[in-house]
Amino acid sequence: MAHVIVGVTGGIAAYKAAELVSLLGKQGHEVRCIMTSAAQQFITPLTLQTLSGNPVYTDMFHPQDNMEWQVEHIGLARWADCVLIVPATADFIGKVAHGLADDFLSTCVMATAAPVIFAPAMNDQMYANPIVQRNIATLREAGYRFVDPVDGNLACGTSGKGKMASPGEIAAVLETLREQDLRGLKIVVTAGPTREAIDPVRFMTNHSSGKMGYAIARQAANRGADVVLVSGPSAQPVPSGVTVVKVASARDMFEAVKAQYDAADVVIKAAAVADYRPKTVATQKIKKSEGDMVLELERNPDILAWLGEHKKHQILMGFAAETNDVREHALGKLARKHLDFIAANDVTMSHSGFGKDTNQITVYGADGRVHELPVLAKEAAADQLLNLVLEKYQSKKALS
Ligand code: PMT
Repeated sequence: MAHVIVGVTGGIAAYKAAELVSLLGKQGHEVRCIMTSAAQQFITPLTLQTLSGNPVYTDMFHPQDNMEWQVEHIGLARWADCVLIVPATADFIGKVAHGLADDFLSTCVMATAAPVIFAPAMNDQMYANPIVQRNIATLREAGYRFVDPVDGNLACGTSGKGKMASPGEIAAVLETLREQDLRGLKIVVTAGPTREAIDPVRFMTNHSSGKMGYAIARQAANRGADVVLVSGPSAQPVPSGVTVVKVASARDMFEAVKAQYDAADVVIKAAAVADYRPKTVATQKIKKSEGDMVLELERNPDILAWLGEHKKHQILMGFAAETNDVREHALGKLARKHLDFIAANDVTMSHSGFGKDTNQITVYGADGRVHELPVLAKEAAADQLLNLVLEKYQSKKALS
């Protein structure tokens, strides 16, 4: 949980600040809001006060009765773990870039030692304007950070780069302020299902959404690791700072993982890989005929088993998606594939496995230790898995 200041400046995207404040509150952060006078033309302080549960700071010289800070902008600046400027107008960016501090928000930004992150939102031509770009470059150079705007339809009726990043993306930046305890480690993560073609229009696959693997990749990158995510088809957004290699079939995944293996310190295989593929792939769409059809399948390579056989310095974590005899099957895979850990999930449980936002995992270590994790959001489960990997990496390093 962090102390977050959301500073709102005057643009139409101010309404999204309300969504962000609500989201941050749900994530357990304590939020205090500051609004410029232009921001109050778009949404009211009451909206942010209600969503944050705290009074909103609007005026340097006429503090409201219920404000507790003595010199408020300084008190708040010290209280903050992070300041988010949402939306950040061209005017406000220019003001901070030139060291101006003439209202509550700009003085607070100037006085804080906490990271300040700007989420610009403006007309695409304004954003492309060399003066705005120069101001952004000045701020980046001074250590301020940005969640860049995206291409999209803009309130002025045009479309282009200027649309503010989503509240979810802005909130995710808080994660990047975490301790960089995985810095220096190269971690390869696999995620999602594989697709095995039957003909040009059909394939065999499974229910993996990619959520578990993407959560591991995201958390590892947030903690400073150099992350390569080898992903089967998935609708999950690519986590920032992660290199993604998109694949379709098990054989594609095998080649992509092999290419990363020598340089990897850790491989975590959360992907649900097809064990079999159709023996022949029809070059044209198979037409239906009377009666049944038999599809002959042949084995796919077992990627994790290959990694286990060729293991040198790497730490290997596999997953076991089981519907029965979870412990027995997981331990069998741990030994057969020469793994350091196997993360077993019982995919028959309602809060666990394919497509869910939560997972209940029991991790079996090659050292005989068993770690029973409670039901956790996949991000939190990912962090627990990464903690185990880090502990193993550190103890190996201490021995070498
Ligand atoms: O993607 P989500 O919707 O978030 O769901 C997450 C998940 C349920 C897919 C994930 O938590 C999970 O359990 N992934 C592994 C699923 C699986 O295929 O397990 P398995 O028991 O079939 O395979 C064991 C291990 O060997 C896995 O690490 C798998 O990646 C690997 N394997 C399997 C077959 C194969 N040919 N090559 C492999 O590398």
